[in-house]
Amino acid sequence: MKTTIQHVAKHEGQEVTIGAWLENKRSSGKIAFLQLRDGTGFMQAVVAKNSVDEEVFKLAKTLNQESSIYITGTIVEDKRSPLGFEMQVKHIDLIQEAVDYPITPKEHGTEFLMDHRHLWLRSKRQHAVMKIRSEIIQATYRFFSDHDFMKVDPPILTGASAEDTTELFHVEYFDEEAYLSQSGQLYLEAAAMALGKVFSFGPTFRAEKSKTRRHLIEFWMMEPEMAFVEHEESLQIQEEYVSFLVKSILDNCQQELQVLNRDISKLEKITAPFPKITYKEAIQLLKDKGFTDIEWGDDFGAPHETAIAENYDKPVFITNWPKDIKAFYMQPHPEEPELVLCADLIAPEGYGEIIGGSERIHDYELMKKRYEEHQLSGPAYEWYLELRKYGSVPHSGFGLGLERTVAWIAGVEHVRETIPFPRLLNRLYP
Ligand code: 4AD
Ligand code: MG
Repeated sequence: MKTTIQHVAKHEGQEVTIGAWLENKRSSGKIAFLQLRDGTGFMQAVVAKNSVDEEVFKLAKTLNQESSIYITGTIVEDKRSPLGFEMQVKHIDLIQEAVDYPITPKEHGTEFLMDHRHLWLRSKRQHAVMKIRSEIIQATYRFFSDHDFMKVDPPILTGASAEDTTELFHVEYFDEEAYLSQSGQLYLEAAAMALGKVFSFGPTFRAEKSKTRRHLIEFWMMEPEMAFVEHEESLQIQEEYVSFLVKSILDNCQQELQVLNRDISKLEKITAPFPKITYKEAIQLLKDKGFTDIEWGDDFGAPHETAIAENYDKPVFITNWPKDIKAFYMQPHPEEPELVLCADLIAPEGYGEIIGGSERIHDYELMKKRYEEHQLSGPAYEWYLELRKYGSVPHSGFGLGLERTVAWIAGVEHVRETIPFPRLLNRLYP
C-alpha cells in the first residue's frame, strides 16, 4: 500500500511503500539507518542485512544524499524518534541516484545557500518554516471565514499608488504606464462597500532600497477591509486575528517549532488584548531609553521598534500617528486633527512592524482636500474619491505582512527564509 510519512501512524504493523528522498544515512557492518524525507515529514528506515536481498543492502549502504527511491517495509513504533515510528525495510527501488548534491550536512554560508535556494528548500529547517507559513495562510482563511468576511482579489497591475509613502515598480502596460500593487487597499475599500467585510491575500511589491532583515521587494499581505467598523473595533479584530494565528501554530506545528528551537513559552503569552501606546508616548519612551535621534514627527526605524517592543511580551499597538508621515487616506483624530486614527502593530522580540492599519476618511469634502494636498487626480484616483459620494460609511482595514509574521512566530532571524523564493534588493535568482 502506498502512503506518506505524515500518515504512517495509521499503518503500524503494516507493510507500506513510500516515495522518498535520502536525507542522510549511517551504517555499520550489518545494518543501515536511512533518514528519509518525502515532503510530508521525516522518518528513519532501518535496513538489516539479513532481512533484504543482497543488492538492496548494498544499495542502502552506497546510496547518496538526495537520491530518490520507492521504499517498502513494515511500520513499527519507535518511541525515541520525533515521529514515533520507523520503517523496517523489505525492499528499495532506486528512481534516481543523486551525485554530488551541493548542500551537504556540514555548515554553508548564507550566500551559497541563497544561490541554491531551489535545493535549500529541501532542508529540515526550511521545511519547518514553509509548513508554518502554510499553516498561517490556512488559519487566516479559517479566521476570516469564521468572522463572515468574503475573500476578494484586488488587481496586481494598477494605475494608482496605494501607499504614497513607499516606492513603486513601474511596468509597461501597452502604451500606458502601470505599477505593481503595493497594497490592494483602495480596491478593497470599493469591495467593502459592495460586500461588507472582505479580505484579500496576495503578493505586493515595493521598490524599496532597504537591505534589512525585515524587507522583501515582493511580499505577501493579508488585507481585511470592513464597512461600518471604526478604529477601536478594527484593533480588536487585529489582536484576535494575531492571537488566533499564534494559537493555530501552537496547536498544529509543534514538531516544526521544535526543529526551529522556538521558545514556545514566549508564544504561549500571545493572547488578546494587546497593549496600546500612542505615538507620543512611544517618542517619550524612546527618549527615556536614551535615544537622541528621534523627535516628534519622525518615523521609527528598526532600532526604535525593537526598543519599544522590549517593554512588552505581547505585540504592542502604536496608535495616533502624525498625519504627515502616514498615507493620504487616513481618518483624522477627532480631537487632534494633526494626528490620524491608525496603528502599527509591533511584534515582540525585535521582529518589527507586522501590521499597518487605519480608519479611512469617508467624508467626500475631506478626501477631496487630501487629493489636492497630495496632487492626486485622473482616472487612476477618481473612482476612489467617488466611493465617498454614494452612501459613504465609516470603515477601517489593515494589512498584515505574512513574511514578518512567519519570521516572528517561527523565530527565524531574517525574512529571506520565510518565503520560498525571496526577492531582495540584490537578488532575483533563483
Ligand atoms: O504598513 P503598510 O505599508 O500598510 C499598507 O500597505 C496598508 N495599505 C495596508 C492596509 O491597511 N490594507 O504595510 C503593511 C504590512 C507592514 O506592517 C509589514 O508587516 C508588511 O506589510 N511590509 C513588508 N513586509 C516585508 N517587506 C517589506 N518591504 C514590507 N513592507 C511592508
Ligand atoms: Mg506601515
